[in-house]
Amino acid sequence: MESGNAGVSMTAREMVGLVEAELRQVEREISLEWIASVDAITTIGLYLQASGGKRLRPMLVLLASKLIGDGGESAIRLGAVVEMIHSATLVHDDIIDDARTRRGRPSTNIQWGNHTSVLAGDWLYMQAFQIALRERNFHILDLLIGVTQTMVEGELMQLQRIGSMEVTEADYMDLTERKTAGLFSTCARLGAIVAGADAATEDKLGEYAWNVGMAFQLIDDILDFTAHENVLGKPVGNDLWEGKVTLPLIYALEEAGPEERRMVATVLEDRNYERVPFTSILELIGQRRGVERVRERARLFTEKARALIGEFPESPYQRALYSVTELVTDRDH
Ligand code: IPE
Ligand code: IPE
Ligand code: MG
Ligand code: MG
Repeated sequence: MESGNAGVSMTAREMVGLVEAELRQVEREISLEWIASVDAITTIGLYLQASGGKRLRPMLVLLASKLIGDGGESAIRLGAVVEMIHSATLVHDDIIDDARTRRGRPSTNIQWGNHTSVLAGDWLYMQAFQIALRERNFHILDLLIGVTQTMVEGELMQLQRIGSMEVTEADYMDLTERKTAGLFSTCARLGAIVAGADAATEDKLGEYAWNVGMAFQLIDDILDFTAHENVLGKPVGNDLWEGKVTLPLIYALEEAGPEERRMVATVLEDRNYERVPFTSILELIGQRRGVERVRERARLFTEKARALIGEFPESPYQRALYSVTELVTDRDH
């Protein structure tokens, strides 16, 4: 399955270098488009943009576009669109999760309250669609509307499972597909479309990025257990505390005894680590090889992604997309 491209991977720096000028234009587009006639929205928009973020989704649009040809202004506009949709999702997600920190700063719900944040999120979604509309392309709109609905469905499904220990691997994968992989896939598809790709090529790039997105979320859920808060930019141990049983714990629970299950149930009940410290949960996951098993699963997704991108002719953009798969699994934030 492995393509013949191993050993020619790029560093993150080299990868960003390939589309640096375009990424700057994406940022300019975002700052121009986040100006509303109501100050609160503009302020929140600028706050979100200034707080950083990896800009992985616009990068996927741009690299996919360059792999096929050149999507020009359209690729830049759609890079801004996907980042805006992503940001709006995070604003709403932080309200739902009652989060305190995002990208190393107080989250918007903490800074401006839930009411203002929910409306700002709505506005940001609609602004993203306004920009997308300029492409006058129903296929693009169809993809963007579909993926946004799917993400909302994912958040709703997650909400229904909050506090439950009965989440299965299949449930988790379904959720991950909706929450994360769908948008990744859309990004690569958009890049392909604006560069003039045919349907089969668009599908192949979409499948590549879907696999990257799956791996990305699996690693994100590992990092919630293993990372350091100051590197991650959001608190560690947060998922369980929020009532979310993610894959490292799902795997551990599959083999856990009644006493271990009770520990997890206690944290889910208390929504804190007072009776059962976080280190005990880490120990449980360690003993049951939860993290290793999720890493292995993530590797299967990235291998699939690599095989798909290996089918494209060799070019710097092809190598960059190949390297994205490594960066996703090797990242620490
Ligand atoms: C956060 O996405 C939401 C998940 C899918 C886990 P990112 O980790 O890409 O967030 P930023 O944009 O870099 O902050
Ligand atoms: C992030 O979901 C939002 C979406 C991907 C829809 P999570 O709640 O799992 O991610 P973080 O941990 O807040 O970034
Ligand atoms: Mg969250
Ligand atoms: Mg959430």
